[in-house]
Amino acid sequence: MDCVVIVDFGSQYTHLIARRIRELNVYSEIVPFWDADKIKEASAIILSGGPMSVYDDDAPKISPKLLRRWMDRRIPILGICYGHQLLAYLLGGDVREGDRGEYGSSVLKVLKDGILFRGLPRKLRVWMNHRDMVCSLPDGFSVIAKTNNTSIAAYENADIGIFGVQFHPEVEHTEYGVRILDNFLSFCGCHRKWRMGEIVRRKVKEICRVVGNSRVLVAVSGGVDSTTLAYLLRKAIGDNVYVVFINTGFLRDGEPRRVLRLLRELGFRNIKYVDASEKFVSKLVGVSDPEEKRRIFARIYAEVLEGVAKDLTKKDPKLKFFAQGTIYPDRIESGATGARPSRIKSHHNVVMPTIENLQKLEPLADLYKDEVRKLARELGLPSEVYTQQPFPGPGLLVRILGEVTLEKLRICREAHRIVEEEVRKWGLTRKLWQIFPVVLDGKSTGIKGDERVYEYIVAIRAVISSDGMTADFAKLPWEFLETIARRITGEIQGVCRVLYDITSKPPATIEFE
Ligand code: XMP
Repeated sequence: MDCVVIVDFGSQYTHLIARRIRELNVYSEIVPFWDADKIKEASAIILSGGPMSVYDDDAPKISPKLLRRWMDRRIPILGICYGHQLLAYLLGGDVREGDRGEYGSSVLKVLKDGILFRGLPRKLRVWMNHRDMVCSLPDGFSVIAKTNNTSIAAYENADIGIFGVQFHPEVEHTEYGVRILDNFLSFCGCHRKWRMGEIVRRKVKEICRVVGNSRVLVAVSGGVDSTTLAYLLRKAIGDNVYVVFINTGFLRDGEPRRVLRLLRELGFRNIKYVDASEKFVSKLVGVSDPEEKRRIFARIYAEVLEGVAKDLTKKDPKLKFFAQGTIYPDRIESGATGARPSRIKSHHNVVMPTIENLQKLEPLADLYKDEVRKLARELGLPSEVYTQQPFPGPGLLVRILGEVTLEKLRICREAHRIVEEEVRKWGLTRKLWQIFPVVLDGKSTGIKGDERVYEYIVAIRAVISSDGMTADFAKLPWEFLETIARRITGEIQGVCRVLYDITSKPPATIEFE
């Protein structure tokens, strides 16, 4: 199986390169630049963009020796943006700060088809995001494209298999960006074999190899990731899976019943239901800070699991593993990939400590959400599982802004029920990545039955996204929003105002906290 390794220098778009390559049916992996010397097998290497200049003291780099080693092994290399500058710099070219930056859309003039632009028009709109630029090339390289601002916008030396593009082919705004990557993969001779069926076979094989005859504990929430994970484990190791479902007290109306029914219908035998709602709620009421809430939630979650694991390991010494449905974006946003220097929020499954000396298994950690959905489908799970919208691990907790109170929790739960009912009636579930209500922290003045009231505000968040990494707010019909607002203010005690969130991600995240 071919594998394209993407060396990450900190670009916000690195994950998109990995996605595009996989969409072209070639497996891809991201490694942080400091681990680049650990790359063993690679059919091709892509050096990502990054925010620094190659001349910065602390600029992320790979050593010239490592680059030589890859070249000696004849591994084709494509540099993108910072990667394009770094390659030229390491091979003896010249990189300088431009008179002005080039940010956003630019027109690329293709000077020579070369490998990358084979079969493409002479002029393309491309996405630029740089100030430094390559000013002269190492010997043996030729310029294959330019823009008005950048005289070396793409270069190649096909004899040694090295390519560079100053623009971002992985970004949707670049015309024919996928074709450019496709051309690179064809040059590398990559076989397009990365398919869901293949992923299932590989994952099952890997789980069997690692777990052997041992048993695995898996915490399932009923969501896409954890349910798919549990099902995948069962496919690999049969009834050697213990499924635990924890009621955290921050679940939606009727959720415990629904999830338990689903697990039974899916044929799991060893299901353990733990109602820890009082424990969670009592520790979280009164807490206001979002990261503090997540930390407390993760800690209690780990404690509860720890208890379950202790009981089970006493009875069953073969229990050796704990599996989690962490997916790739969880790791990026929690700063766990090294890809992004800053932690955006601590997704609770990523910050979870070790459970009862059980070894951690994260078989979905290299997949994006849409890939997990495809995997679920491939495994034969019902569409109820893989078409459902994501629901965060900490549940309603991250949808109550500011101090957590029992009243806000009640409002949040009732508002969820109303929104979900209307979304189903209007047939919107599958059109949206997510839609949910959030209880804001402050109150506002209203008028109900001729009386002044001072009550909570509920915001509705609805987004369109393909992977949750970026999102656009959904332009929903006014009649739909009006119905929701009428029902929420009419049916829920203590709410007199409903707002609709019209921000995209970035700058906002999808969840409010
Ligand atoms: P954000 O809010 O980071 O959300 O833009 C991106 C996607 O991740 C979900 N999300 C979480 N999922 N645990 C989870 O399992 C979490 O702590 C968590 N926080 C956010 C969110 O619902 C969205 O789909």
